[in-house]
Amino acid sequence: MSKHTVKTIQAMRDNNETITMLTAYDYPTAKKVNDAGIDMILVGDSCAMVVHGHPNTLTATMDMMVLHCAAVARACDRTMVIADMPFGSFQYSVEDTMKNAARFVTEAAVDGVKFEATHNHIAKTKAVVEMGIACVGHVGLHPQAVGALGGLKAQGRDMNSARKVVSESLALQEAGVFAIIFEAVPAKLSDYVTRKLDIPTISIGGGPQCSGQLLVTPDVLGLYDNFTPSFAKQYVNVGQIMIDTFTQYAKEVKAGVFPGKEHSYGMSDDVLESIMKEFGEA
Ligand code: KIV
Repeated sequence: MSKHTVKTIQAMRDNNETITMLTAYDYPTAKKVNDAGIDMILVGDSCAMVVHGHPNTLTATMDMMVLHCAAVARACDRTMVIADMPFGSFQYSVEDTMKNAARFVTEAAVDGVKFEATHNHIAKTKAVVEMGIACVGHVGLHPQAVGALGGLKAQGRDMNSARKVVSESLALQEAGVFAIIFEAVPAKLSDYVTRKLDIPTISIGGGPQCSGQLLVTPDVLGLYDNFTPSFAKQYVNVGQIMIDTFTQYAKEVKAGVFPGKEHSYGMSDDVLESIMKEFGEA
């Protein structure tokens, strides 16, 4: 199968085929996500937390994100790769936003960009779309606004917040994004907006009626437990498998079981004898 594009993702939505999306930040994980047939990857700025160990996403930088995006993009011949524009990369000016979006395309070869655009960033969204870059919107919880929000909390539950989700979604569609991520939004509201829009919606804590579903891969694998949102689902405990494996390795090394003969290189006795003659006994 050839690589997903804005057209194939839109066709999935139009044919009621649910879109699958996961995050990835490195080459080996992205390759497995690609080979599993997942439709889209988000190289999220969650990278700052789940890969770099920061307490929130605000410390992700352009350089950090470009490096991770390039590794992920090299692994994907089928999965569409979307770069997440970090805090500070789209807040200042239209020109800055365009330059930063272009860096992801030219330096990392991603297929599109996503940013936590509000009504204040519609002109910037339009400008990036007009450059010819596929753009994904993001409504509901904006983790980059953690300071102003006072925590990572569900959005769209009261009238003002729900109105913001609906009006931002409509404005983003109008600006030309090809999909919108709904994060931590009541299922009924995402369902309503999904039916109102003509483009795919992708849920991460946005309920089952969106056109697609997204999870943060370290949550899926049990690899990150500093913070686990209630919408996350852990499918396997790779973290425990890693601890068991490293413990077993340490036991074998200390007991002299590893390395075995099959993990060592041989050499002829003649060479060793000549070496001992030259350098003396050990
Ligand atoms: O950074 C990220 O992983 C994200 C998703 C949670 C939408 O932005």
